[in-house]
Amino acid sequence: MAGDNSKKIVFSGIQPTGTIHIGNYLGAIKNWAELQNNPDYDCIFFVVDLHAMTVPYDALHFQTTIHNAVLDNLAAGLDPKKCTIFIQSQIKEHSELTWILNTITPLGELQRMTQFKEKAEEQKNEINAGLLTYPVLQAADILLYKTDFVPVGKDQEQHVEFTRTLARKFNSKFGEIFKEPAALIPRVGAKIMSLTDPSKKMSKSHGAESYIALFDSDEAIRRKIKIAVTDSEKETRYDPKNKPAISNLITIYHLFADQPIKEIEKRYAGKGYADLKKDLAEVIIDYLKPLRQKREKLEKNPDYVKNVLEQGRQKAQKIAAATMLEVKKKTGLI
Ligand code: AMP
Ligand code: TRP
Repeated sequence: MAGDNSKKIVFSGIQPTGTIHIGNYLGAIKNWAELQNNPDYDCIFFVVDLHAMTVPYDALHFQTTIHNAVLDNLAAGLDPKKCTIFIQSQIKEHSELTWILNTITPLGELQRMTQFKEKAEEQKNEINAGLLTYPVLQAADILLYKTDFVPVGKDQEQHVEFTRTLARKFNSKFGEIFKEPAALIPRVGAKIMSLTDPSKKMSKSHGAESYIALFDSDEAIRRKIKIAVTDSEKETRYDPKNKPAISNLITIYHLFADQPIKEIEKRYAGKGYADLKKDLAEVIIDYLKPLRQKREKLEKNPDYVKNVLEQGRQKAQKIAAATMLEVKKKTGLI
C-alpha cells in the first residue's frame, strides 16, 4: 500500500484522449498489470487530465473521456486491490509543484524535447505554453510520489531523464528531497509501430486505420490487420531494420500469443503474409475478448469505479501533501 517506506514506488500514467490502443497496452499498461503483483513494489497509476489539455480537446465531454480512461485501465488489468488509481487534477499539488520546478527549468531544455517538437509540428497554430512545459508537469507528477521506477514506452524515456535532471538540480539547490527515478522500458514492445506507416510509432493521431484500439470490434481488428502495410517480399522474417512492417506484426503476435519470435518466423516461413495476418487478427481478438467483457461489467457499476477513485485520491493526497510541505520548507515558502 502507498506510503509503506520499505517498498519501491512504481508510478506511471496515461492521457485521457478517447482511445487506448495496443501500443499503449503493450508498451505500458500490460507491464503495469504485471508490476502490481510484485510484493516489493507499491504501484500508483493515474490518469493525466491536465496533460491532455495541452492538445485540442472537448471540455463538454472531458469528464466522460476521463471516466472512460479509468474504465479502460481497470478492464486492461489494473486491480485496485493491488495498486492505487487516481486522477491527476484532483490533487492540486501537481500544479503547485510544477510552478516551483518551472523556476529551475532551463527554457532551452524544454525546446529540445522530441515530443514538444513533434506536437508543435502537428498543431502549428496551437503551440500553447503548456505544450512546452508538459515535461515539467510530468516531472512534478513523478517527484511528488518519491518514485523509484516509471514504467513507460520508449517515447517517454526522454521525459524521465529530464525528471532526473530536475530532481538533481532541485536537491543540490535547496537540499535533498527528491529521488532520481528510473524509466522501466520493456525489452520488446516499447515502440509498437503504426499499421499504415511502420516508420512512425502507433498513435491515435495518425488515423483510425493506423492503430488497433483496445476495444475495437472483432471486424475492425480483422480489417485493420488485413490492410496493414507490409513489404514487397514474401518472407516472414523478424528484421526491424530492413522489414519494419512485418517485424512489427511479428512483435505484436509474439506479445499477444506469448510465443517466441523464432517460433512464429518458422511457422510462417515460405507462406506469404496473408496467413500470418489472418492468424494474428485471431490472436489479438482472443486476447482482448476478456478485457472487453470486463469493461462491459465495469460500465454497469459506476459506484464501484467512483469508490476506487475516491480511495485512490485519498492515498495520493496524503503522499503529495507531505512532499509539498517539505518542498515549501526547503524553498523558503514557509
Ligand atoms: P499516452 O497515450 O501518450 O499517454 O501514452 C501512455 C503510455 O503508452 C506511455 O507509457 C507511452 O510511452 C506508451 N505508448 C504510447 N504509444 C506507444 C507505442 N506506439 N508503443 C509502445 N508504447 C506506447
Ligand atoms: N507523458 C506521459 C505520456 O504521454 C503521461 C504521463 C504524465 C506520465 N505524467 C506521467 C507517465 C508521470 C509516467 C509518469 O504517456
